[in-house]
Amino acid sequence: MIKIKKRKILLLPGDGIGPEVIEEVKKIINWLNKNKSLDFEIDEDLAGGCSYDKHGTPITDEVFYKALESEAVMLGAVGGPKWDNLDFSKKPERALLKLRKELKLFANLRPAICFKQLVDASTLKPEIVSGLDIMIVRELTGGIYFGEPRGIKPIDNGERKGINTHTYTSSEIIRVAKVAFDLAKKRSNKVTSCEKSNVMEAGQLWREEVQTLHDKEYKDIELNHMLADNCAMQLLRNPKQFDVIVTDNLFGDMLSDQASMLTGSLGLLPSASLGAKNKDGKMRAMYEPIHGSAPDIAGTGAANPIATILSFGMALKYSLDMDKEAQNLENAVQTVLDDGLRTKDIMSKGNKEVTTSQMGDAIISKLK
Ligand code: IPM
Ligand code: MG
Repeated sequence: MIKIKKRKILLLPGDGIGPEVIEEVKKIINWLNKNKSLDFEIDEDLAGGCSYDKHGTPITDEVFYKALESEAVMLGAVGGPKWDNLDFSKKPERALLKLRKELKLFANLRPAICFKQLVDASTLKPEIVSGLDIMIVRELTGGIYFGEPRGIKPIDNGERKGINTHTYTSSEIIRVAKVAFDLAKKRSNKVTSCEKSNVMEAGQLWREEVQTLHDKEYKDIELNHMLADNCAMQLLRNPKQFDVIVTDNLFGDMLSDQASMLTGSLGLLPSASLGAKNKDGKMRAMYEPIHGSAPDIAGTGAANPIATILSFGMALKYSLDMDKEAQNLENAVQTVLDDGLRTKDIMSKGNKEVTTSQMGDAIISKLK
């Protein structure tokens, strides 16, 4: 049984702009503690390249156990060119992948919402993206990211072979599909399941299991199957046809980056990675912006903290049972955008450009 002490939040700022955006969340947690008499206990530690620099490993056992015992983990971002040439097992990304895999965070929720104030920040026509509200549910602990065998091995003629394996079992597919169907119930009752069943057996199994589950338990929900390449195209052609999209680890990685640009900037999109619920309805969870560590802008104050702040909003909602505070935070973000404040990535004529920390402060000033 998972035994979780109350309201322990572990911050793992990571690399690049990670520390800058997590700093803004820290301010918000402190604000909530002070003004709402809450008792969030924050701990902060290293994960990613910064951990490698100090300890020679992207995540120490100690930090991993802290994550196990936290009610929610907030991660900034990991990685950067500095660590590009490290052995695979030492790369910053391993910290993230280990947390996902070992905490069994199999369902990754990536909402793509186009804020009305930012319709013009998208590269797509306003009528295509205005009012957009999609939820991508990405399988996060299986597929080609973790499949065995994997590696690089020498073969004949001095050549080498790179190997990765794409596998899914029925239960891995069913548990993530359930998350998607349950979410759809609270939204527009529509799920699109994406795979490549035309070329991959694992994709064929995916399609069959999702359909069988649907026919057994979720008949009232509209289910469509779509090949992942077609989905990529449809996301640009007519994104508003989608409500919930459920897909595997690799396709989910790519489709969610693509969906993010419908909303104007990678800097806006939060995510939640959730494990299975225990008897008390609690689950392990990690929250992070979907953007990366953006080393090119690290330290310049140009990072957009909104994705990370909204990720904390998802933590309030999914882990901490604080829907009202989550709404409060979302409203504050909206109000600041209404006021015309913009970080560099979403700046447009007639608005006021602010730094990462000015954006965080402005959002806090609108909290009720
Ligand atoms: C993401 C990222 C990660 C992934 C990287 C950093 C390992 O791109 O969360 O989408 O590929 O899953
Ligand atoms: Mg990605």
